[in-house]
Amino acid sequence: MNVLLGVGGGIAAYKSAELARALMERGLRVQVVLTDAAQRFITPLTFAALTGRKVITNLFATASSEETLSSAIEHISVAQDNDVMVVAPATADLLARLAYGHADDFLTTTYLAFTGPVVLAPAMNSNMWAHPATQENLNILRKRGHVIVEPEDGLLACGMTGPGRLAEPDRLADVVASLGLGSKDLDGETVLITAGPTQEPLDPVRFISNRSSGKMGYALAEVAGERGARVVLISGPVHLPAPQGVTLIRVHTAIEMRNAVFEHLAEATIIVKSAAVADYHLSRVPQHKVKKTATRMSLELDPTPDILAELGQKKGDRLLIGFAAETENLTAGARSKLESKNCDMVVANLVGQDGTGFESDENEAVLVLSTGETIPLPRAPKREIADRIFDQVMKLRLALHAAQ
Ligand code: CTP
Repeated sequence: MNVLLGVGGGIAAYKSAELARALMERGLRVQVVLTDAAQRFITPLTFAALTGRKVITNLFATASSEETLSSAIEHISVAQDNDVMVVAPATADLLARLAYGHADDFLTTTYLAFTGPVVLAPAMNSNMWAHPATQENLNILRKRGHVIVEPEDGLLACGMTGPGRLAEPDRLADVVASLGLGSKDLDGETVLITAGPTQEPLDPVRFISNRSSGKMGYALAEVAGERGARVVLISGPVHLPAPQGVTLIRVHTAIEMRNAVFEHLAEATIIVKSAAVADYHLSRVPQHKVKKTATRMSLELDPTPDILAELGQKKGDRLLIGFAAETENLTAGARSKLESKNCDMVVANLVGQDGTGFESDENEAVLVLSTGETIPLPRAPKREIADRIFDQVMKLRLALHAAQ
């Protein structure tokens, strides 16, 4: 697969050299295009040495009329020769030019001529990132279906701490590589995904909830959509943008989530229950705010409906994938959930560790399958975990078809 790597002019440009190497390590062929500004931070020679290919630096590079003509149409052939385009670092200025279709240098011109998937990895100062102008440009680019690999939090070159650091090259390379696989193997499937926490009110201003960020469920929705599925995403309250092309239904409580799931069950062929549904709620919520008193108070909670268990009984020939958050005996706990809730697969997460699980961008899991198989998924970005989950779902689909 051929990757067009566009490098913008930012301090993070040096990391795109590492990205070029990481892409090549994954067997991808890399063509680098540097903007004028990028060349102030890193030289074409660095990329030429790494990729073994000529680096493109300018729309009108040469003086002679014949060469000018060939370089003037080169962006069309570069656009046609590459399967995926990745821009890293995507500066605030580049995002604006891409969003509005400017074609004033080689990279932006090639972008307009390019028809494949585009990955944008922004990097900039936190205030520039948070600025409504940048966020509006990002929304335009997201709506266009581009994959935005959000910057990471940390100490920035300007001395500020916050979001703005270019995503790690290895993570970026994984995203690019997974896009290139580009198979639409979920074409014809409708995937119903639940994500995020639920919020169970205690009175008009208070609720019980949990630490789920929804990132795993949203990654599953993105990946399923990219692999050709129709996706219905039923989400508890989270701070994540709606994935492109997905039907998003927002809910708060376990009961609302249950009702939304069963409203859409008929259309679903695959159900993925990644939501962290509250197990208990207050069945009668007071209409007014509960006042503080000097005495001790206790809550009497009732169980919420177990959506997964009910789905297990009503799923028919749909594939049902549950999640299990365990703090010990991961595989055994997941297998007993698989059996008791009639799932086809359980994605088991060990929770309570650093760097994976609820709020993290990465995850580590064990897939427990109804075929008896147990497949460990080592720590990886949630999008990659999502891809591995759907790989196994499709294997199950084939195995079940073959058994019929
Ligand atoms: N789940 C659900 N409805 C609930 C509670 C959980 O559908 N009321 C689903 C979750 O979406 C997840 C799975 O059940 O797919 C497992 O959730 P988990 O919290 O790990 O397990 P529980 O069934 O709640 O069991 P326990 O807490 O005892 O481990």
